[in-house]
Amino acid sequence: MTGNLQFDSQGRLRHFLTIDGLSRETIHQIFDIAESFISVGEREIKKVPLLRGKTVVNLFFESSTRTRTTFEIAAKRLSADVINLAVSASSTSKGETLLDTVRNLEAMHTDLFVVRHNQSGTAYLIAEHVPPHVRIINAGDGAHAHPTQAMLDTFTIRRHKGSFEHLKVAIVGDLMHSRVARSLIRALNTLGTSEVRVIAPLTLLPTGHESLGIKAYTDMREGLEGVDVIVMLRLQRERMRGAHIPSEQEYFNLYGLTLDKLACAKPDAIVMHPGPMNRGLEIDSAVADGLQSVILPQVTNGIAVRMAIMSLIMGGSSESGRPA
Ligand code: NCD
Repeated sequence: MTGNLQFDSQGRLRHFLTIDGLSRETIHQIFDIAESFISVGEREIKKVPLLRGKTVVNLFFESSTRTRTTFEIAAKRLSADVINLAVSASSTSKGETLLDTVRNLEAMHTDLFVVRHNQSGTAYLIAEHVPPHVRIINAGDGAHAHPTQAMLDTFTIRRHKGSFEHLKVAIVGDLMHSRVARSLIRALNTLGTSEVRVIAPLTLLPTGHESLGIKAYTDMREGLEGVDVIVMLRLQRERMRGAHIPSEQEYFNLYGLTLDKLACAKPDAIVMHPGPMNRGLEIDSAVADGLQSVILPQVTNGIAVRMAIMSLIMGGSSESGRPA
């Protein structure tokens, strides 16, 4: 799948579908805009007028709490009108095709679709068929990509660690089924991260990680040795066909992040998780709620990053990268 569809003929970002094809400069530009939006969320009146008069449709064919809510809040803080559609429950279940659903929403003069679907490529398919003034953001397509999550994860890393050039980052758990990991690895590579490691049982390691320049570990303590950032992934049981792990207890013993295993990382390492977490399965509560956890700041940062992406693709931020 190509990322070219997301740029217009002048090379401006038109849709946000994948991390592929984004330059390091564009990613940092989005971070800089997001940084300026952090304060909006801390104000008494949490609104800027950048998307006033625009209509944003949250088109979610797969359930979500955090992602849908943070997109909704982001759009509202930009002063857009927001419609939330949980589509599996309506039109498509009555036999309407995906593109017919989108065409009907377009006929209502909507401006931006935020799309989540359990099939890889859905956001691309919609982007190929909408008129030029309509924008698409991929909020997760199957096991393929989740680019806004990768942006909020790397933005969180930048806020805590500054630059990426000297960082060692370990991504732990169900890499096989994770669109979050796929997009995050791309973003970390583009940002020049010194070392990206993946830690998982062989049955949950994706193939082809060597070609991405990634070191793979099956021993968690070995993989965590000296890292600056740990990203824990949810065991995606709904995507697993057949048994990938011997037992949940065994998985927790070997790959669950406990304080004891965390001690293998650098003392100032941060712990991240995209959510939703399975406490006691991939992460122990003492770590999830502990001093090194930045799991809730990730959620807060997700709003500023989604505001930045929406305003950038809708032309609402100025050349300098600051909100107009
Ligand atoms: C992720 C997703 O839906 O891909 N969660 C999220 O967007 N916050 C990860 C997951 O479901 O485990």
